[in-house]
Amino acid sequence: MPKNGKPEYSALITAAQSAMSRAYAPYSNFQVGAAILAEDGNIYTGCNVENAAYPVGCCAEASAISAMVINGQTSITAIAVVGAGEQLCTPCGGCRQRIREFAHESTVILVCDSGGLRHQTTLGDLLPLSFGPDNLQR
Ligand code: THU
Repeated sequence: MPKNGKPEYSALITAAQSAMSRAYAPYSNFQVGAAILAEDGNIYTGCNVENAAYPVGCCAEASAISAMVINGQTSITAIAVVGAGEQLCTPCGGCRQRIREFAHESTVILVCDSGGLRHQTTLGDLLPLSFGPDNLQR
């Protein structure tokens, strides 16, 4: 933690960049990596995995969530998403909802691979008035 008290998430971003380098994206040629800092303090990563049957491809965020859950973790403290190219890779609508399942005000860090752009936000900003597990409690 730096002196200003705000975490820099540099390890998380490095992990997302490393995951991006493993992406299987022969159809879109758009590589994405995601890294989750879970409640246990560990980092879980994922990349996009495309498929010749296009709709069954998997986003990087979904892969990272699977890696987290299979390790017994169900709470996202922060997630970094790194996409190829010059623009930020903002999570798709489906992935915002996937993150929501395990997040409340989790930090979301978006980084473009060329390194020029970085944006820090929250899941609440990306998915306001979201529907989550609490909505199903009676
Ligand atoms: N992609 C992700 O992995 N995450 C997102 O949030 C947006 C899109 C992937 C899916 C597909 O493999 C490629 O980027 C192009 O859409």
